[in-house]
Amino acid sequence: MYEMNSRPSSFHPAFLFRGKLRGEFSPARVLSFFIFTFLFLSSFAQYDEQRYPVIPRPYKLLPFSGDFTLDSRTVIVTDMKSTQAETDFFVQQLKDIYNINLKHAKKASKGNFIYVALDSSGVPPEGYQLFVNRNEIDLYGTKAGVFYGLQTLFQLIHVPAAVDRLVLPTIPSCSVIDQPQFRWRGLHLDVSRHFFTKLQVKEYLRWMAMYKLNTFHWHLTDDQGWRIEIKKYPRLTSIGAWRNGTLAGHEGAANSFIDTTEYGGFYTQNDIREIVRYADSLHITIVPEIEMPGHACAMLAAYPELGCTNGPFIVQPTWGVFNDVLCPSEKTFSFLDNVLTEVAALFPGKFIHIGGDECPKAEWKTNDTCQVIIRNYHLKDEDELQSWFTKRIVAMLQKKGKQAIGWDEILDGGLADGAAVMSWRGEEGGIAAAKAGHNVVMSPGGYCYFDHYQSDAPGEPLAIGGYLPLEKVYSYRPVPPQLSADESKYILGVQANMWTEYIGDEKKLQYMLFPRILALSEVAWSYTKENNYAFFLNRIDFHLNLFTRMNINCAKSIFDIKAKITSSMVNGVALSLEPGLMTGHIRYYIGDSDTGTFDHDYDFPVIIDTTVTIHAALFEENEAVTRTYVYHFDVSLATGKPVSLRKPPDKSYSTGGPFALVDGIRGEMPWKGSQWLGWWGDTLDAVIDLGQDTLINSVTFNFLVDSSSWIYPAQNYTIGLSEDGKTYVPLDKNAWIVTGSAGEFRNGGNVAGYARASSGSAKNQRARYIHLVVYPLGKIPPGNPGEGNPAWLFVSEINVN
Ligand code: ACM
Repeated sequence: MYEMNSRPSSFHPAFLFRGKLRGEFSPARVLSFFIFTFLFLSSFAQYDEQRYPVIPRPYKLLPFSGDFTLDSRTVIVTDMKSTQAETDFFVQQLKDIYNINLKHAKKASKGNFIYVALDSSGVPPEGYQLFVNRNEIDLYGTKAGVFYGLQTLFQLIHVPAAVDRLVLPTIPSCSVIDQPQFRWRGLHLDVSRHFFTKLQVKEYLRWMAMYKLNTFHWHLTDDQGWRIEIKKYPRLTSIGAWRNGTLAGHEGAANSFIDTTEYGGFYTQNDIREIVRYADSLHITIVPEIEMPGHACAMLAAYPELGCTNGPFIVQPTWGVFNDVLCPSEKTFSFLDNVLTEVAALFPGKFIHIGGDECPKAEWKTNDTCQVIIRNYHLKDEDELQSWFTKRIVAMLQKKGKQAIGWDEILDGGLADGAAVMSWRGEEGGIAAAKAGHNVVMSPGGYCYFDHYQSDAPGEPLAIGGYLPLEKVYSYRPVPPQLSADESKYILGVQANMWTEYIGDEKKLQYMLFPRILALSEVAWSYTKENNYAFFLNRIDFHLNLFTRMNINCAKSIFDIKAKITSSMVNGVALSLEPGLMTGHIRYYIGDSDTGTFDHDYDFPVIIDTTVTIHAALFEENEAVTRTYVYHFDVSLATGKPVSLRKPPDKSYSTGGPFALVDGIRGEMPWKGSQWLGWWGDTLDAVIDLGQDTLINSVTFNFLVDSSSWIYPAQNYTIGLSEDGKTYVPLDKNAWIVTGSAGEFRNGGNVAGYARASSGSAKNQRARYIHLVVYPLGKIPPGNPGEGNPAWLFVSEINVN
């Protein structure tokens, strides 16, 4: 018998001999000493991942043989006063997910207990230690640490798959020391584009908590709806929370339209308080976002006097960026001051997010109030005006005891002291901010945007675009190598963002979040140099089964057949197919029909030397167990030939590598997958080696247009032909023929499409080397999303005929 909390205070392994802990020399204790000595000496203990499938990977886990058995007499022993919320959540999880009833007890005898105690002295802020042996389980840590320790324990429970009263759940013996690498382990949710109810938000928080995420960024306001009750300004929700319709289909696509159903919703202050309390019980801090000065149409529809024009303003039914923004007038500042006072009172966390992204300056350029401020304060331009605006808001929040964080645009024109930066347009903003001594949360689009596609297989539900498979999330490292050790301290952590333009309900939300939340969790929690994707995948089965039990609509992309296209050595390419995380045999057929017979067994790479379509699927016996994957090859003289790039594509859009330009497969719309290579404000500069002197008639390349994603038509192209790779003869610049929607590009509104540029003057030329340079637009013109930023250039297949 022993008393609660009668345990040593240090987190160091030496504590094991210093105090009294249920009998000084219990075998488990002595063993623990050796374990920890070993753990601290070894950098990375490998273990059987199926037996210890914990995600995120604990800092240290040492496996042992033998199991603890959970039976009807097992109790959880804890001081209810200190860890009630923590243990309650765990006990409820066991009940809800496994129908296991675990009872609380104040004291334990002879074993068969889970002992939970607080230990805040010398323990890292969110740290814990967990010991499991055949007889007992002991968990120590801070309040948050104990909470996380119970989540680790939850993931160690092996429950028999079939209902079998004779087989009891077990927990494998082990010792764990754990603590997070980053203190900001964030997940964001946009509730403006689509609204999620109080219960759905709570569920989202539970998913976060299971994976040790601790910061919920709640995007509460945007052009498409204001979602937080502000007592002083009731029209923000009576008007600003409702819109008259919603875009159906993809923004800019020819078949998209606006439906006429009123759509909206908001959270009362009581709802918010309830959610904040709930989050707190899960050790989650909420960071509310109030967007300004752009993305403010809902606010303007409710209070038009805050605008730069007379309107009319509407709560927007479509996506993108709108020219109607807040006017930085005294009226606006006093309004925002009152709004932020109420927001600050509702959310106990230190940070308030003030948006700051994508603020078009068109209205500011012609507005008298703005121009007077620019003159009076000797500001250089409208960018500096936004910086001036941000500084006032940052100071306003400081007076309320809060710290501002904003999207990385708040760096433009100079950043206010004390403001933190969320880096989303790549990492550059975050790097600059950390070098200048500002706190940073890394959330770059190429790794952290969970609204992007996670598979390029046909049949993926509509997404905004992009390509963010699980492995890419997993590969992210939040501290860029450009930062020194001192500068790295400003990287608070990492966050994934869930923008909901194309996520209208909870099932789709689950699809976009799962399983990518697993990778995020490990990137945020675990010490990165030891991360290893194969080791991660070996632990994933447990979680997929768990999601099934929880009725979560988890994406199945990791089961996708993996296609690899390589040079065939002769003409064309070789298509290699490999099952994803699933056993079976691949079959395929050749032909355009969607209903063909899978009449080929896949054994060896398929040589593709002519334009052709392949349909493939994974089979078990005679049953297809995956969807069908379709590969359209468009084979030309360039297909499969060596290609070199003088300037690599942007890291975020480089998945396919240079070979993606000549692999025979064109990128799709909406843009997704590894086919598109992207350059941000830079040229594509490629040389293709045809291998021998060749007669050619045309050179064609494909580029993307998607102005809502800042992707613009190529502006100019040059091509040189060479026989020796040294001297190039230029082709006639004026003879390019552009087909597709690039020709329809217009200012304002979003255009999406796909275009091809073809050299008209290459007829009957001979060359071995082809040098293609494609120039981007330059700066995005006013009135468009991302105006003033460099335009993206996205290029896919290059064909030579
Ligand atoms: C953003 O994605 N506009 C921050």
